[in-house]
Amino acid sequence: MIIARSVSELRSALDTCKGGIGFVPTMGALHIGHRTLIDAARKENECVVVSIFVNPTQFLPGEDLSKYPRKEEADFKICELSGVDILFYPDVSAMYGEDEVRICAPDIRGYILEGTSRPGHFDGVLTVVMKLLNMVRPSRVYFGKKDAQQLALITQMCQNFFMNIEIVPMETVRESDGLALSSRNAYLNPIERQEALKLSAALKCATKMLMQGNTKSTEIKGAMEAILEPLDVEYVAVVNRAFELIDEVVIGDTIVLVAARVGMTRLIDNVWM
Ligand code: PAF
Repeated sequence: MIIARSVSELRSALDTCKGGIGFVPTMGALHIGHRTLIDAARKENECVVVSIFVNPTQFLPGEDLSKYPRKEEADFKICELSGVDILFYPDVSAMYGEDEVRICAPDIRGYILEGTSRPGHFDGVLTVVMKLLNMVRPSRVYFGKKDAQQLALITQMCQNFFMNIEIVPMETVRESDGLALSSRNAYLNPIERQEALKLSAALKCATKMLMQGNTKSTEIKGAMEAILEPLDVEYVAVVNRAFELIDEVVIGDTIVLVAARVGMTRLIDNVWM
């Protein structure tokens, strides 16, 4: 595995790639969810590139940028063992200069739900993803469905900017008790971890209601809110794949989402219907 820390090192490393590139952008603290993305990239492409970069522009002031888990040694090992060809591990100065052009998230889809709770977050995500895609020039890029709004906006950006890249959405990986894997789960103490199960329990309830024939968003949201009640809930929402709020679930075109704080930790989860 080649470790590239600068853009020029990355370019030289990419020169050694023969065939299509599968790319997995990450912020590190890699877990089984990331492994699933890397494994898919390994199966479907000649060359696999992973980036690890805790992107400062997608954190709002007061968020967890400084304490975001950083696990360089373990992450390098995971990449190596997963058959990654190139690991791009830049620092902030390799990625950003002064007074730069930024990508702006769209006015509506970029500023509902996560965008309301974290205004400006998606500008930072889209900007860094645009930079990374331009540097790596992959044929395919892999993202988890857990960050559903991020996935929708990146897909839209690639369409709007006529970028010829296949975006591969991957299923959320869960612990056996239903907790969606996230690098931020590391912040949870044992009691909070137990509380966090309410997110997946609420989503399970939504699926069950739908299976029983209830497609009304307000009723599904109401039942979910009752389960989530003791938590500090930021939103429960029912949207279509284009991230428009909808009143009725349409099977094959619906995502039910939740964001809540458990103690000091903000968690998100969703189910695609
Ligand atoms: O999902 C993430 O880990 C990040 O938002 C991403 C896509 C790597 C951009 O920093």
